[in-house]
Amino acid sequence: MSDLHTDAQLSKLEILDRKNQEALLGGGQARIDAQHKKGKLTARERIDLLMDEGSFEEIGKFVMHRSKDFGLDKEYYLGDGVVTGYGTVNGRLVYVFSQDFTVFGGSLSETHAEKIVKIMDLAMKNGAPVLGLNDSGGARIQEGVVSLGGYADIFYKNTLASGVVPQLSAIMGPCAGGAVYSPAITDFILMVQDTSYMFVTGPNVVKTVTHENVTSEELGGASTHSAKSGVTHFTCANEVECINYLKRLLSYMPQNCEETAPTLPYESGLDEARPVLDSIIPENPNQPYDIREVIEGIIDADSFLEVHQNFAENIVVGFARLGGRSIGVVGNQPAVLAGVLDINASTKAARFVRFCDSFNIPLLVLEDVPGFLPGTDQEWRGIITNGAKLLYAFCEATVPRITVITRKAYGGAYDVMNSKHIGADMNYAWPTAEIAVMGAKGAAEIIFKREIAQAEDPEAKLQEKVDEYQQKFATPYRAAHRGFVDEVILPSQTRQKLIRAFKMLENKVDTLPRKKHGNIPL
Ligand code: HXC
Repeated sequence: MSDLHTDAQLSKLEILDRKNQEALLGGGQARIDAQHKKGKLTARERIDLLMDEGSFEEIGKFVMHRSKDFGLDKEYYLGDGVVTGYGTVNGRLVYVFSQDFTVFGGSLSETHAEKIVKIMDLAMKNGAPVLGLNDSGGARIQEGVVSLGGYADIFYKNTLASGVVPQLSAIMGPCAGGAVYSPAITDFILMVQDTSYMFVTGPNVVKTVTHENVTSEELGGASTHSAKSGVTHFTCANEVECINYLKRLLSYMPQNCEETAPTLPYESGLDEARPVLDSIIPENPNQPYDIREVIEGIIDADSFLEVHQNFAENIVVGFARLGGRSIGVVGNQPAVLAGVLDINASTKAARFVRFCDSFNIPLLVLEDVPGFLPGTDQEWRGIITNGAKLLYAFCEATVPRITVITRKAYGGAYDVMNSKHIGADMNYAWPTAEIAVMGAKGAAEIIFKREIAQAEDPEAKLQEKVDEYQQKFATPYRAAHRGFVDEVILPSQTRQKLIRAFKMLENKVDTLPRKKHGNIPL
């Protein structure tokens, strides 16, 4: 706890040294020990792990709160519960704030908020990402409305910074109340298994209001938010892994919306044929396969960073590199629910597409989709509005966009999944592609209903019509005749074709009509 009076016996340099030592201790050794005992690192240890060695410059180390109520007039800590500053990660500038749970549980005071806002302003003016290491009990209860105001200031800045600089939030402890809404506005959330929680209100309040008995883990642990709510994009086994994910994630992104992501060296003229892809689609069109194997077969080795791995697994999204360039990949996943588009899959992919478009990351879509998921559950929960999010996100994306139809492209989902009609730049199909309004059986039953009913052998007639429809439409050629598909390619050629096409598109310029902003169906 800082004593506000400087010691008259000390020289001016010694006073500075004493203050620096004091700031490093945060809420004191006992609380640091308690933090370690919970398997957690301190705010400063996290920054040390994150930043390039010796690169961190702290801002606002001696800031203290201005409150006097409920004993706060006697309890001060230099820095006021958050370490803020700038430095480099893999040589690139970033701004960081790291909340210190040892000081009032990392709770957010007016001054704590001002420190965060200050680095966000710097980040926006200088065009570099903001990384938040969150470990906070929410609004500092003793401060009342000034703390709420502080949160609102941060939410406002988060929103203004959205799409200007990447904002990443690591959740590294219990985050309650206001502490969850700032991360929610940022681009990506990472949670640490077993030691981090996110909830609007904790289990005690839940019990009072809804009479539910629920543990912190069930209510807002990493597993819950990665698989059930989709609030978190990454679940990390521990804090070190979490920091490593942050660094890796940054490597796919530009510093700001005016730049492109860094590229890795790529040697052209290599043999890019991938024969393994020629046998990846099963003979039986209803048999599943794992779209991740297709992704891995196309992209640069070991470059896939999957986002939202455990949420809406019927669609796979993530960052990758192709010929050294950073791309965003969206692929229907035939191995889960046949790759159907439902509410969660649509919102998951829409958000990813919008991130990539905001930050000039080209998009690759791998399509194998039987359509939108029908039924009362989906309709009543708004598959129409939610499916439209994905449609809207693709329609307004101006980055280079390429689609490869590997197998099914049926119904509205054909249109939605980055079709030529909604602005894709290049559309490829494999010979196994089936592009039609609906599956052959459903189609035959509708359009030949009378003929089938009047036939001597309705079963045989149905089969005949199914075969006819299948032959005519369950191929890529009708679409290729129209130019909706630019080329039907061998799967083994895909990597080569995509490297060339993305290179061809690297200087693409496309703008949307002038407007204040669009109105995505939220
Ligand atoms: C002030 C707080 C605090 C808070 C914790 N502390 N939360 N001080 N304001 N919000 C202090 C404790 O008094 C304690 O101080 C130290 O931090 C550690 O807290 P513990 O409870 O001992 O730790 P733990 O058991 O790990 O529990 C952590 C916790 C719990 C789950 C975060 O403290 C908790 O539920 N806090 C309150 C959460 C909350 O309801 N916040 C307000 C939300 S409303 P000592 O001195 O003992 O070290 C909100 C409105 C914004 O945020 C809305 C915007 C949309």
